[in-house]
Amino acid sequence: MAKDTKTHYVCNECGGQTSKWQGQCPHCLAWNTLGESLAEAKPRRFAGLADNTGVQRLTEVQAREVERIATGLPEYDRVLGGGLVEGGVVLLGGDPGIGKSTLLLQALAHLAGSLKTLYVSGEESADQIALRARRLGVEKADIPLLTEIRLEAILSHLRDERPRVAVIDSIQTIYTEQLQSAPGSVAQVRECAQTLTRQAKQTGVCLILVGHVTKEGTLAGPRVLEHIVDTVLYFEGDTGSSFRLIRAFKNRFGAVNELGVFAMTDKGLKGVANPSALFLTRDERDVPGSCVVVAQEGTRPLLVEIQALVDSTQTPNPRRLSVGLDTNRLAMLLAVLHRHGGIACYDQDVFINAVGGVRITEPAADLAVLTAVVSSIRDKPLPHKLAVFGEVGLAGEIRPVQRGQERLKEAAKLGFNRILCPRANLPRQSPPGVEVKGVGTLGEALDYLRGLG
Ligand code: TYD
Ligand code: MG
Repeated sequence: MAKDTKTHYVCNECGGQTSKWQGQCPHCLAWNTLGESLAEAKPRRFAGLADNTGVQRLTEVQAREVERIATGLPEYDRVLGGGLVEGGVVLLGGDPGIGKSTLLLQALAHLAGSLKTLYVSGEESADQIALRARRLGVEKADIPLLTEIRLEAILSHLRDERPRVAVIDSIQTIYTEQLQSAPGSVAQVRECAQTLTRQAKQTGVCLILVGHVTKEGTLAGPRVLEHIVDTVLYFEGDTGSSFRLIRAFKNRFGAVNELGVFAMTDKGLKGVANPSALFLTRDERDVPGSCVVVAQEGTRPLLVEIQALVDSTQTPNPRRLSVGLDTNRLAMLLAVLHRHGGIACYDQDVFINAVGGVRITEPAADLAVLTAVVSSIRDKPLPHKLAVFGEVGLAGEIRPVQRGQERLKEAAKLGFNRILCPRANLPRQSPPGVEVKGVGTLGEALDYLRGLG
């Protein structure tokens, strides 16, 4: 370690600092969260993160439109907010084997034709990458390849070669000689990401950092990395299905929660341009406990089948389990169903599944979840062409959701002829051939469902 650099310890939960290592962070009292880090005494460490221009008036600052670099993968551009941004740093996280390296190699292969790129691999040998390139049919693309894990070497390469777009695969394998801790430790990951980000801001290179997800589903050194970079994207969906979703969790240059949808084929990832019906793999039989929700992920409506199974419980504590939806919210909805709908589940196990490995984060799925639960309890299938959306409040009211018109339109486009939605989302004119039922309370919704037979 260099003589003039001091280390201290930083909590990766709250960012608090101590001068010596302790088992417990003295600031937030979390255990085992302190990691070694370089002392931040030298001001030059922060040079370049933002221009130092003194006080300016906001009205006098000329906001430039950021220039976008299209990656040739429209679905990837969509989650990025329109493409890569000069000097922007993107963190792409996901489970091992989900397709991070594949996606980035495809993007670089497209970009290599028009601008200078660099692929830094700390995980795979050049042979392995060449093999993947051949499999993707892009082996002719002129992509400079660097197999390197020393940060200093990567930086000097970036300075000399001046690529416009560079991929670091992965940030956990990179280490700096200035710190003693092992590659992949929080201190190393944070220091390397910070230094690379500074370099990106100074030179204008678009940087894409690949990050591994730990067993708990978060990036190693998660909080610290998310603060450093401009954009955080995660791969989601299960590796068992051939569909891969990329969600934007943070984006300084675009909308969050935007979703990119891909299919993994034998020739790499292919964008799915019109995914709204992707998760509607229903069989033609009418089965109880299945309900279609019109969800809205990012700027796009998405129709997803929600399945519920309600079964009498064998244990003193009935189980509430949900896949793709929030389990706490499910418990809350069941309480509302009991209190305001008079339907009790305290002696029943309740299982909920959003089909296709998609994760629905918005409350607009509430009404569909309850509709599926009620259908399973009564053992009565819902009409095949019924779609549902709406938020359920604790007082049993059905609350409006945003972009109601778009949801209605999308459901109508896909051939749904009955739509149950919040009253406040009722359109002035229903789409032709569609019966739209607006409800204000859970009681009204249950009456409507009863009337369906
Ligand atoms: P990879 O990009 O190596 O994953 P990561 O970098 O996120 O760890 O993806 C590897 C998986 O993708 C592997 O299981 C094989 C599969 N795959 C295909 O199905 N088709 C392809 O054309 C390629 C290149 C990979
Ligand atoms: Mg990889």
